[in-house]
Amino acid sequence: MIDTAKLSPSLQRLLEGIENNNITDSNRLVSLMKALKLNADDFNAYTFFDHSITESYGRKKIYEGENFVIFLMSWAVGDFTAIHSHGNTDWGGVYFCDDINHRLYQVENNNIELKDSSIIPAGTIVAVNGSLVHAMGNLSNKPLKSLHIYGSNQKISNANDFSRVYELEKNQIRTTDGAAYININENKCKETEVGLYTTKDTILDYFSIILPFYKKNKLNDMADYIEAVMKNPDLYFSSNKINCLV
Ligand SMILES: [Fe+2]
Repeated sequence: MIDTAKLSPSLQRLLEGIENNNITDSNRLVSLMKALKLNADDFNAYTFFDHSITESYGRKKIYEGENFVIFLMSWAVGDFTAIHSHGNTDWGGVYFCDDINHRLYQVENNNIELKDSSIIPAGTIVAVNGSLVHAMGNLSNKPLKSLHIYGSNQKISNANDFSRVYELEKNQIRTTDGAAYININENKCKETEVGLYTTKDTILDYFSIILPFYKKNKLNDMADYIEAVMKNPDLYFSSNKINCLV
């Protein structure tokens, strides 16, 4: 256990709130987080903007309880997650410290489709459960951050274990320990399932988000492929017609 006296005031209040209130669902967590009046600046000490360029955003674990875990995500300019679910999370919440770009997807079996594209404003607190499939990141010109809590109703601290990462550009789904990096390293993946069904609009939007990552990492074959598909989306489906969701 961390000595909570050394933590920032907002994090200290949050930990005491979660541990004293027997949280078992996201609504209770979100109500608690709203009542605590969290201060975004209290989390500045936990930022991780200078992460490796092979990891597509800064993901820092700042507290691990008996049945929950708290991360501070740091979004340098251009940082973004891959599309992902949240594994075994029974309850959770995200506090948006800044205005953050967000994409919401609908997933049924291996069908995935973009449902909403927005900027979630600073101060917003939203619920998260295991089946939420989204992507988020920074399409602005300044660094951003957000606070993420994932909880379990069992004694499991890494509640978002077994998250799924939807790699549209590789036509596959990865199962991970909760990390949702673009082009996630094999050593963070438990299993890989091949085959996705999606739409042109979903591909065009997502490929425009992930292209800068592949270019920055000089993964030129994939960057060239992504650019070719952005010019002619039929290319994505022409090699394997069955993955076009209509
Ligand atoms: Fe997420």
